[in-house]
Amino acid sequence: MKIILIGFMGSGKSNVGKLLSKKLNLPLIEMDERVLKQSGRNNINEIFKIDGELRFREIEIEVSKDLQEIKNAIIATGGGIVVNKIIVDYLKRKGRNIIVFLDTEFETINNRIKNNSSRPLFLNKKESKRLFEIRQPLYDNYADIVIKTDNKTVKNITQEIIKKLGNL
Ligand code: S3P
Repeated sequence: MKIILIGFMGSGKSNVGKLLSKKLNLPLIEMDERVLKQSGRNNINEIFKIDGELRFREIEIEVSKDLQEIKNAIIATGGGIVVNKIIVDYLKRKGRNIIVFLDTEFETINNRIKNNSSRPLFLNKKESKRLFEIRQPLYDNYADIVIKTDNKTVKNITQEIIKKLGNL
């Protein structure tokens, strides 16, 4: 089984992915890490600055293509994958897939990541909010399971996902 975690930047995909991977005994794949490795740059900001967002998205597509053979894993995606349907299609192409949307209010996200400069698309609150609003219906549309994460711990969120998986 492949569990694909989607959601906006700062929605908890990596942290929930880590715990879910432990609890379900499935390997965790971090798409951003793979993109970074493939880019040859030192961090995500550098990819955006030197190569541009278009190159970043191209690498994301390449990474998702490479991941299509994987049958059992937790995949923590980057917040922007839903913008390219081709990425979601590659991730879902083979085996059994469940897409879990970590649904988080914009203000919660802003409080979590506003002082963290590692995200090139979260530098300006107004712009980030605009992006959030454009993407919200996309996450919703692709999700098999939606989990509200505001005011919940990583442990609670993970338990909730496991419970919902059992009910599918
Ligand atoms: C992005 C989200 C980031 C990273 C890149 C672009 C986006 O991942 O892929 O900065 O477009 O939302 P996280 O969602 O893990 O922050």
